[in-house]
Amino acid sequence: MRMAKARIAVIGAGLMGHGIAQVFALAGHEVTITDTVMASLGNVHERIAANLREIGYDARAAERVHPSPDLAATVREADFVVEAVSEDLPLKRKLFAEIERAARPGAILASNTSVIPITRIMAGLRDRSRALGTHWWNPPYLVPLVEVIGTQWTSSKAIDWTIALHKAAGKMPVHVKKDVPGFVGNRLQHALWREAIALVEHGICDAETVDTVIKASFGRRLAVLGPLENADLVGTDLTLAIHQTVLADIEHRPGPSPYLEALVAKGKLGFKSGEGFRTWSADAQAALRGKVLQHLKKARASDA
Ligand SMILES: NC(=O)c1ccc[n+]([C@@H]2O[C@H](COP(=O)([O-])OP(=O)(O)OC[C@H]3O[C@@H](n4cnc5c(N)ncnc54)[C@H](O)[C@@H]3O)[C@@H](O)[C@H]2O)c1
Repeated sequence: MRMAKARIAVIGAGLMGHGIAQVFALAGHEVTITDTVMASLGNVHERIAANLREIGYDARAAERVHPSPDLAATVREADFVVEAVSEDLPLKRKLFAEIERAARPGAILASNTSVIPITRIMAGLRDRSRALGTHWWNPPYLVPLVEVIGTQWTSSKAIDWTIALHKAAGKMPVHVKKDVPGFVGNRLQHALWREAIALVEHGICDAETVDTVIKASFGRRLAVLGPLENADLVGTDLTLAIHQTVLADIEHRPGPSPYLEALVAKGKLGFKSGEGFRTWSADAQAALRGKVLQHLKKARASDA
């Protein structure tokens, strides 16, 4: 199957979908994209061009992205179809049934779900050997990782081709060998968030302190020193001694924190409502978003 100039179809032109389309278009592929909201299709070129200018690329790559309101027409010629619609299992299952009917028999079908096991999304397909997960991170054109998740049915050929496609497009794909909820990245991320929330819930420190502790200590090292590299660096014996003292005390309830549930019940939804764990003025929100973007742009530039 074509790889140098593959035909890519993206389902969903939202936050993730337009960024994924951008990465493939910049890598020289022709990209079709669909959405049920016409306004999202209408401004997709504008959004991609603005992102490209922001990171110093020729905005004309956006012209390789072809919007269409018709799902079947979007996927019909594609070598690779990636779905990035809302995180809704019944919706994703329904869409993949439609995609399978319209796509070529050899096309690879991928979901960008954040945490839903790929097995649950793809179980109803006739040919499950070509179905897999590709989990990108936001913004897709700045964060390098793509987790490539196979199910018990996925062929190794489909996994290898998908990894090669993403690598050639400048991404850093990794292979997740078992299809577990949250894959690798979100399991790690939310293990940390669970303890972060518990520290506030139990009055050990406030929310601002949790974030300061992380950002001013191990957060500084995390981009260049993963936890298992770090465990080897300090010694597995020291790691074991620390775990013998601390693990029993770390939050391990199976469900979400009641503190988090109460915030949501009170309508304290974070940026959306101006208050979550902390209060957020419009200026503070813009400043934090800007800081994250600058940081990611700098990291990308130093990768290059
Ligand atoms: N936002 C993130 O940080 C992030 C990161 C990784 C993965 N994801 C996952 O990516 C997926 C998309 O997330 P997002 O943040 O881009 O959401 P989003 O709401 O920005 O975009 C979803 C898009 O899908 C469209 N859509 C809904 N139903 C559709 C249909 N039937 N056909 C075509 N388009 C349809 C919506 O109109 C919308 O434009 C979700 O599964 C999410 O969990 C999100």
